[in-house]
Amino acid sequence: MILENLGFSRSTYSEVILTVKLGKIVNSAPMGALLNDQGEICLRIYRNQRTHRMIVNGAEDCVLNITDNPVLFYNTIFEKEKISYISAKRVSSPRILNCKAYVECLINDIEIHEDFVKAFLKPLLIDTAKEKNIKTYNRAGPAIIEALICYSKLLHFKNIDRERAKILKKRIEIFKEIVYHSTTDSTLRKIASKILAKSEETL
Ligand SMILES: Cc1cc2nc3c(=O)[nH]c(=O)nc-3n(C[C@H](O)[C@H](O)[C@H](O)COP(=O)(O)O)c2cc1C
Repeated sequence: MILENLGFSRSTYSEVILTVKLGKIVNSAPMGALLNDQGEICLRIYRNQRTHRMIVNGAEDCVLNITDNPVLFYNTIFEKEKISYISAKRVSSPRILNCKAYVECLINDIEIHEDFVKAFLKPLLIDTAKEKNIKTYNRAGPAIIEALICYSKLLHFKNIDRERAKILKKRIEIFKEIVYHSTTDSTLRKIASKILAKSEETL
């Protein structure tokens, strides 16, 4: 299994849950992950977060937990005490129970900036559940589908409720921003721009 088959890419952020261990402290939080040309996974972790402090203070390894379960994403921000862990195979940081895949990594290098730290991860082990076609969650695909839903509603409302149609167009603008923010893939960006252009023509 290679990282690309799991959905990791150089152009589109994969939204994963990062688990880090430092001393006896274990912490998990959602993070965006991108591949670089050296085959490393890169994270940008902003200040004033526990993950930032643990990485700057010397955490040596981590686990990328691959899931599309929104409850797990929620728990890792708001209800961390509900997260269940199991041991990893190659690193000291544990895995979160019931994820679809795990990438166990060494934190190869860090680059400290004023507002964030960049972490460069070297994958040591990729482990997936038996299920086929496991992919990392990314924001671009769902944002395009939401924009299409808004566009379909906009067609319905344009003649009967103009204010509502305008609100739908604003939402399409926001979904386009999400696509541009989360991917440099030209096909996905073109689609997002086209949905917005079509909704502007319609109004
Ligand atoms: C899907 C998703 C992706 C995120 N990506 C990042 C990221 O790439 N970098 C970052 O600093 N914060 C990111 N966050 C925000 C952190 O996960 C959030 O601030 C979290 O509460 C930090 O937890 P901590 O203080 O335990 O480290 C993301 C949040 C979500 C929901």
